[in-house]
Amino acid sequence: MQAWGTVVVTLATLMVTTVDPKIYERCELAKKLEKAGLNDFKGYSVGDWLCMAHYESGFDTSFVDHNPDGSSEYGIFQLNSAWWCNNGITPTQNLCHMNCSDLLNRHILDDIACAKRVVSLHKNMKAWDSWSRHCSGHDLSEWLKGCNVHLKTDSRKINS
Ligand SMILES: *[C@@H]1O[C@H](CO)[C@@H](O)[C@H](O)[C@H]1NC(C)=O
Repeated sequence: MQAWGTVVVTLATLMVTTVDPKIYERCELAKKLEKAGLNDFKGYSVGDWLCMAHYESGFDTSFVDHNPDGSSEYGIFQLNSAWWCNNGITPTQNLCHMNCSDLLNRHILDDIACAKRVVSLHKNMKAWDSWSRHCSGHDLSEWLKGCNVHLKTDSRKINS
């Protein structure tokens, strides 16, 4: 019994270290996003990204959601396997030229690069439903409270 328990624990540890996920703390993520150039990227601030990521994944890089159409969404920004990455199952455009499982680890620079592509191609953040519903047009300064990251104000807000 004990040996079996050890096997289970070892396997579980192995799986965790293979995926190497992380649930980001709000301010840590804010700093990371700012450093990666998302404060005032195409008119959006770090507040927009924090708000969106909160509602999409709860800042959990390992989060996967399955859609009724058979596609799945991966990682902190919930990028879709029909458009942005390849999961080997869904027919995909793979516009970010990446393996969906690479979106599940703690390293989010590739997630950020892909998300930038989403915003660049769509010219806005409406690709994320939760952003439209919970973040667009809201005061997003609360998201950066105590983070020592300052919301870059933008012209877009006037129109939204
Ligand atoms: C993605 O990476 C995983 C883990 O390395 C691998 O098992 C899988 O076959 C890859 N999928 C594709 C579609 O390349």
